[in-house]
Amino acid sequence: MWSSRLVFILAATGSAVGLGNIWRFPYMASDNGGGAFVLVYLACIAILGLPILIAEVLVGRQGRRSPVHSVVTISEASRASAAWGLMPVMGILAALMILSFYSVVAGWTLHYTWLYVQQLLGSTRLEDPAGSFGALLGNPLQLGMWHAVFMVLTVVVVALGVEKGLERAVRWLMPALFAMLLLLVGYGLTTGHAADAARFLFQPDFGKIDGATVLAATGQAFFTLSLGSCSMMAYGAYLPRDNISLPRTAGTIALTDTAVALLAGMAIFPIVIAYGISPEGGGPGLIFTSLPHAFNDMPLGSLYGLLFFALLSVAAWTSSISMLEPGTAWLSERLGVGSRKKVALGLALFCWLLGLLAALSLNRLAHVKFGERDIMGLLEFVASDLMLPLGGMLIALFTGWAMDRSLLRGQLPEMPEWAFTALRWLLRVVAPLLVLAVLLRAAL
Ligand code: PFF
Repeated sequence: MWSSRLVFILAATGSAVGLGNIWRFPYMASDNGGGAFVLVYLACIAILGLPILIAEVLVGRQGRRSPVHSVVTISEASRASAAWGLMPVMGILAALMILSFYSVVAGWTLHYTWLYVQQLLGSTRLEDPAGSFGALLGNPLQLGMWHAVFMVLTVVVVALGVEKGLERAVRWLMPALFAMLLLLVGYGLTTGHAADAARFLFQPDFGKIDGATVLAATGQAFFTLSLGSCSMMAYGAYLPRDNISLPRTAGTIALTDTAVALLAGMAIFPIVIAYGISPEGGGPGLIFTSLPHAFNDMPLGSLYGLLFFALLSVAAWTSSISMLEPGTAWLSERLGVGSRKKVALGLALFCWLLGLLAALSLNRLAHVKFGERDIMGLLEFVASDLMLPLGGMLIALFTGWAMDRSLLRGQLPEMPEWAFTALRWLLRVVAPLLVLAVLLRAAL
């Protein structure tokens, strides 16, 4: 059990805030035309993200066990089909697929942390950011090694039980990351390109909204809030019940997460524009090829770069822990006490191997393509943009239709009747239909 509401908020925020905000949000905005993408993303957070976040945490807190067993228990109590238990299995699978490539990217941030240690000591200098990044991607050994280091860090925390390390990391290091972003936004102002950046991010060009943009924005909303993967459900199981309002708690998490993403956007794009990089089509390398330019020119830039990438690695770490936790909780519940360490290790090994394929798709296996996507792109697309929204839709349907109304109501005692009714219809009809429309539109 978490010791308090604050600890839960810290852990859940730790899960939500990560590479999704600082690496993925800017590059998805860049690849999907800027303002139009951001607008749809924000709408998705409000209309889909918030209700589904409440629903996920609620199911965890009601069920009190691993996601699969929580859902099965609630189904039994509600006389609904036990087949609902399959839903979290898909979520768990999505979380593990995400962990595979996420760990590769987190490996990049570890590598950059190390580069800045060296730069600070004066032994190297990142003169050519695009060249250095390209060199990293071309080096399977280095990619695999950093990917392994990050996976080990993740599995250690999950194997030992989540609370202790996580609490400390989130309580001190997340605010530090927030402060670093604020300072970078300040630096962006000095480049004279903050207004251009704001225009790119917030002036929607409606001509650019098509099925693919909407799907990407929806996927990003689920990804950034860790939804559809049962991570939040797994954490909700440890949340005490008394006097903790789920809507308020979910609101705090969603707001913090969105603030970090928007700050990251306003930190990165002025730099991108100022150094003559095109804000459009930046791809997954965007922050790695743009930020080093600024760190080269800023006073104390090397130290700044070191702190930035170190804190980003920690943010990635607190997220990756939440990807490994649901599967570990489920399998170790099935295999019995004492199996937790072995299960965590086994799952991490699986994810490392799958991630290795993703890492190789950046070099040796670059020729293996699925349409426009390489292995890594495909993994990211299928897990984040398809499986997470689908999982979120099923969770909405589950809480809206299958779960007994009185159980649902019992978890939300402080909500006025009208708000409860509105939330329930959001979950029953609005959210599932919207996700369905997004998926269909992109498929057609
Ligand atoms: N929300 C995390 C981020 O923004 O970096 C990523 C994530 C965590 C996705 C947990 C999915 C998940 F289950």
